[in-house]
Amino acid sequence: KIMERIETDVVIVGAGAAGLTAANKLKDAGESVVVLEARDRVGGRLWTGDVDGAMLEIGGQWVSPDQDALIETLAELGLETYTRYREGKNVYIAEDGERRLFEGEIFPVPAKTEGEIVGLIEKLDALVAEIDPDAPWEHPRAKELDEISFAEWLGTQTDDEEAKLNIGMFIAGAMLTKPTHAFSALQALLMAASAGSFSNLVDADFILDARVVGGLQQVPLGLAAKLGDAVRLNQPVRKIRWNPDDLAEGVVAVTDSIEVHAKRVILAVPPILYSRISYEPPLPRRQHQLHQHLSMGFVIKVHAVYETPFWREQGLSGTAFSPYELSHEAYDNTNHGDTRGTLVGFVSDEEADGVFALSAEERKAKILESLSHYYGPEALDPVVYYESDWGSEEWTRGAYAASFDMGGLARYGADLRKNVGPIHFACSDMAGKGYQHVDGAIRMGRLVAEQILNEQSLAS
Ligand code: FDA
Repeated sequence: KIMERIETDVVIVGAGAAGLTAANKLKDAGESVVVLEARDRVGGRLWTGDVDGAMLEIGGQWVSPDQDALIETLAELGLETYTRYREGKNVYIAEDGERRLFEGEIFPVPAKTEGEIVGLIEKLDALVAEIDPDAPWEHPRAKELDEISFAEWLGTQTDDEEAKLNIGMFIAGAMLTKPTHAFSALQALLMAASAGSFSNLVDADFILDARVVGGLQQVPLGLAAKLGDAVRLNQPVRKIRWNPDDLAEGVVAVTDSIEVHAKRVILAVPPILYSRISYEPPLPRRQHQLHQHLSMGFVIKVHAVYETPFWREQGLSGTAFSPYELSHEAYDNTNHGDTRGTLVGFVSDEEADGVFALSAEERKAKILESLSHYYGPEALDPVVYYESDWGSEEWTRGAYAASFDMGGLARYGADLRKNVGPIHFACSDMAGKGYQHVDGAIRMGRLVAEQILNEQSLAS
């Protein structure tokens, strides 16, 4: 088979937000770039799809006010945002199934539990303020905090089960999408620090503030458009070759039909996929080890579209939480200017495993039943129903993103962003601010481009 041969300054593997940001920064600085993307589309975990006539955000969608790298990119691309619907009352479901309406952030729980929740939020805010999201391993107690699971840590603070479940949910089910026993207290603090504070995570109106008119996939689509035919789809990179004894030889990225010869390569793919590529010579032992300590979380994003946003007529905002429900959180996700109403719910980690053991029909029935506990029986009959199933996506393998196992962050975190010779790394899953979010992907894309531009060798 004859391989197409391309020469360029920098080859980027992966056309997600991180890779496309890096490619644009390098191109703007006068470097030539080629982006190799495995899928038949750009965007990676950003994917705005049409499902049975409904526009759905199959992947990431929300923008929060502190995410300035994303907000700047939206402005550069001329994209408009709109606010999530939030008028009216929120719903909380208690352990006994009682449906309670509330306003504000603190759930309607017994006074003692409320006191425990407020105390935990204060405690976490104080700890988070001590954490540098770009270097959580530098905290004086990093090792100790990385050796205790978030579940155990919560147990050292309170014996109030409902308080532990609620506080746990904000980091576990809602963010890392792993159970609280599966990640450390340090990993939890990084998640909160990356969003500015723990209080910000609790505030749905902050974290899930705005959406992009026409969908967030327009960010990667717009970034890719600026690169023109430098973006090559359907090109999974299989191999990366370089000569450690002569860096001037550069690096070669090989797909099934293209060989790209470049000075540098950026791996802009989730870290769990690094081992899908063969390296000649192999990556160093440090990378071999550290890459095994990251794994993807797992969540089903459920979309249910109705003829009208019927919950609004009941005075409901659509915002709903319960640590006792299959869908632990749900929101009004109606598209800008749409007359139909859309609800979005989330089924996380072990709950997701549980419903994937069922038939599609049974799974749908169980999930809609959970939504009906929040919104009433009308929720049982959507006109469009869809489950985002990122666990089945070969080039992602989970959602939302990757995090370290117990002890992994303090032990390996500092090396995650370090380049190996001409091989550089960028992804939302290694970000500080904006960690696991599009904002973090853009930050890491910018950072890796700067790293490369700052190196003398490229200028030669
Ligand atoms: P990303 O995974 O997007 O891109 C990597 C690219 O590399 C992919 O296109 C992949 O196909 C490609 N690739 C992999 N291996 C390859 C190979 N060997 N060769 C070539 N190409 C290869 N964020 C947010 O800010 N707000 C939100 O509301 C949400 N919500 C949300 C919901 C869901 C369901 C998901 C899955 C994710 C979110 N997120 C989110 C997270 C957000 O989508 C995510 O952090 C970024 O889009 C990740 O961008 P990256 O470019 O880092 O990786």
